[in-house]
Amino acid sequence: MAEALKIVTVPTKPFEGQKPGTSGLRKTVKEFQKPNYTENFVHAILAAVASVDKLEKSVLVVGGDGRFFCPEAVQIIARMSAAHKVGKLLIGQRGIFSTPAVSHLIRKNTALGGIILTASHNPGGPDADFGIKYNISNGGPAPDGFTNKIFELTKSITEYRTVPNLKIDLEKLGLQKFVVEGNAFEVEIIDSVTDYVLLMKQIFDFDAIKKLIAGQAPHKKPFNVVFDALHGVTGPYVKKIFCEELGASNDSALNATPLPDFGGEHPDPNLTYAHKLVSVMKEGKHDFGAAFDGDGDRNMILGKNGFFVTPSDSLAVIAAQSNLIPYFKQNGVKGFARSMPTAGAIDRVAKEMGKEFFEVPTGWKYFGNLMDANRLSLCGEESFGTGSDHIREKDGVWTALAWLQILAAQPDISVEQLVTKHWEKYGRNFFTRYDYENCEDAAAKKMMEQLTNLLNAPDTVGKEFLDGGRTFKISKADNFSYKDPVDNSLAENQGIRILFVDGSRIVFRISGTGSTGSTIRLYGDCYEPDLVKQKMDAQVILKPLINVALQLSKLQEFTGRKAPTVIT
Ligand code: G6P
Ligand code: ZN
Repeated sequence: MAEALKIVTVPTKPFEGQKPGTSGLRKTVKEFQKPNYTENFVHAILAAVASVDKLEKSVLVVGGDGRFFCPEAVQIIARMSAAHKVGKLLIGQRGIFSTPAVSHLIRKNTALGGIILTASHNPGGPDADFGIKYNISNGGPAPDGFTNKIFELTKSITEYRTVPNLKIDLEKLGLQKFVVEGNAFEVEIIDSVTDYVLLMKQIFDFDAIKKLIAGQAPHKKPFNVVFDALHGVTGPYVKKIFCEELGASNDSALNATPLPDFGGEHPDPNLTYAHKLVSVMKEGKHDFGAAFDGDGDRNMILGKNGFFVTPSDSLAVIAAQSNLIPYFKQNGVKGFARSMPTAGAIDRVAKEMGKEFFEVPTGWKYFGNLMDANRLSLCGEESFGTGSDHIREKDGVWTALAWLQILAAQPDISVEQLVTKHWEKYGRNFFTRYDYENCEDAAAKKMMEQLTNLLNAPDTVGKEFLDGGRTFKISKADNFSYKDPVDNSLAENQGIRILFVDGSRIVFRISGTGSTGSTIRLYGDCYEPDLVKQKMDAQVILKPLINVALQLSKLQEFTGRKAPTVIT
């Protein structure tokens, strides 16, 4: 039944700090719950869209990772979209969509854009984090120019429009029709996984993966797989794709019930926060393990006995074997790319395959233009993100499927063998990242200023440091900037890089995804062609380099931190 509904204008005042970071606005739930806080930001998004596109009668996709406050935020967005005369919202059932699923649905429905409710891998619950980000019509995160526009609007807002009496039934699949002051407004509640599963079936050969898991010819024995959804959004996707479609046993889906607080844990697929999966893999019963983050765009890949595949290696291995994935076989592979702090394993694969290669700042949004220009097919980041141009977000489940597809084509090879064979051919890039979470803002700022002074000092290049019997001589030091080759937009101050004569490198950045304080990231990597040294532990190999980084940055003096909170 159509209902008559009225638009109301509500006076409001700006909130400080509604500046979207690496991936949207991330703050505590408490912040988003403040009267008008969420409304102000949603208004800024809608007003920014309306300033460049026709918002009236448009279609938007809305969904989130199911964290605490998602349902409330969906209702707010629906009421405000109706007031802005949006034509239709496509919303996931119960307000749930993985980030990759939203990206796909925007593209599939040629929607104007999408609003994603997630703080990704940050903890959830009433005392944890929430987030809102806008994706544009290509399905990817809004570029800097657009998020700056949103930020500007949040600073001058005086009122917003809403339809207070509009209420969506988030459970019921199908169309809900409303009339708002004579204008039609529709909401379609859609199943969260169906469209995404269809997409995966177009990209991969599910039969081959099914045979791998079941141990059917050409495979000699079952290949035991296990997936950890960390109580995030991917649970239903994992059950549908890996268990129902690909025949993995039901107990191979761990923590597959999405919870608003992720069970009180940190839904981040790395060795620290996904330690339960690491323990399961170390029991030696499984051949392959993968974990995904809260909103399903990140992944961690593990082999038997807990063999850890670094994200930088994962990207390079998939690239080198991309001809085994039907999607790439059909469409061909254009270029490859990685974010600046990501280790350079992919660089060598690109060179060998004669493909164009790009190094972009941290943030998936920087890959979108290159994909739209048909210059990029496959890319990744050290922050556990891997993906391709099938959508415009990184994609956790896609990455696990890519690995299984590659393994399915090579009977009796383990994850570890695949990776070590890759190192034998291309050499190994050792990589580590030290995170110092939630440092004092002023301390982090001072440390970065001190490093900036170092970049500008005339005697920096050529300086030598000794640690662990090794000499590190600085060959270059700069603050990374990137000019987008498609639209020439410039991103500056994207991380301080110090390069050494032996090819090793350290990078310092302040995270753009934290919700409180400053998280300092220290990245270190080096290249090793020697087959014997390749077998060594990354932390051992990189320790002297990290010591030099700590000496150079005076990180411990500035922050008072003796050790990082997380090492990946
Ligand atoms: C999100 C973005 C990634 C980025 C990561 C780390 O996951 O989508 O593109 O690499 O955050 O960002 P940060 O600024 O915290 O290092
Ligand atoms: Zn994420």
